[in-house]
Amino acid sequence: MSFLFFKRVLANPMRVGYLVPSSPFLTRETSSRLDFSSPRVVVELGPGEGCHTRQILRRMGPDCRLILFELDAEFAAHLTRQFRNEPRVTVLQTDALHIREALHDLGHTQCDYVVSGIPFSTIEKPVRDRILNRIAGAMSDEGRFIAYQLTTRLCDEDHLFELAEKSFCALNFPPVNVMEFRRARVSANLRNASDTETLRGRLSHAEA
Ligand SMILES: C[S@@+](CC[C@H](N)C(=O)[O-])C[C@H]1O[C@@H](n2cnc3c(N)ncnc32)[C@H](O)[C@@H]1O
Repeated sequence: MSFLFFKRVLANPMRVGYLVPSSPFLTRETSSRLDFSSPRVVVELGPGEGCHTRQILRRMGPDCRLILFELDAEFAAHLTRQFRNEPRVTVLQTDALHIREALHDLGHTQCDYVVSGIPFSTIEKPVRDRILNRIAGAMSDEGRFIAYQLTTRLCDEDHLFELAEKSFCALNFPPVNVMEFRRARVSANLRNASDTETLRGRLSHAEA
């Protein structure tokens, strides 16, 4: 384990969630789910010290973009230094809640993949619901949301996401579920609704 990871776990155990970074078995498992046969916009939420990021970058083509959302200032500074010579990567020290605005500011209307290490089970429900709503709203129609989590509780969010595939990575500490979701039809309908007032009303109700 890197000293930085240990330090950040001690500083904020609930936010970091796990005691050690993901294993190479898990980073290979998540990154193998991304199809880079065409240019992609990939968002990574909670990259920590960058173990999944490095694995994704190994597979990404030159026209792909990888945007990192890391709330922790020390992790974000470490990522900025680590990827300073990598033009495909943008590091944002910000909350995953801002995914839609940040993508827009970077000139992307949507993303193809969201890979998330955020420990959703340690986040209060209202905040978790808002983050999940924002993720669904940022994904393209064919987009995928890939999350590695201790529990499979995200599968209950079927108003937002439909489970496409699930696996279990035992060779990680702790062992985790890897879930791959597509956007649920109902959330796609919400976003594509032509009546913006209705849409706004429904979204604010969903996010309340
Ligand atoms: C379990 S660690 C995962 C770190 C790394 N991806 C790994 O697999 O080793 C969770 C990470 O999510 C970050 N995080 C937690 N909540 C966040 C949020 N709302 N927005 C962005 N990052 C967040 C934490 O700072 C931490 O870096």
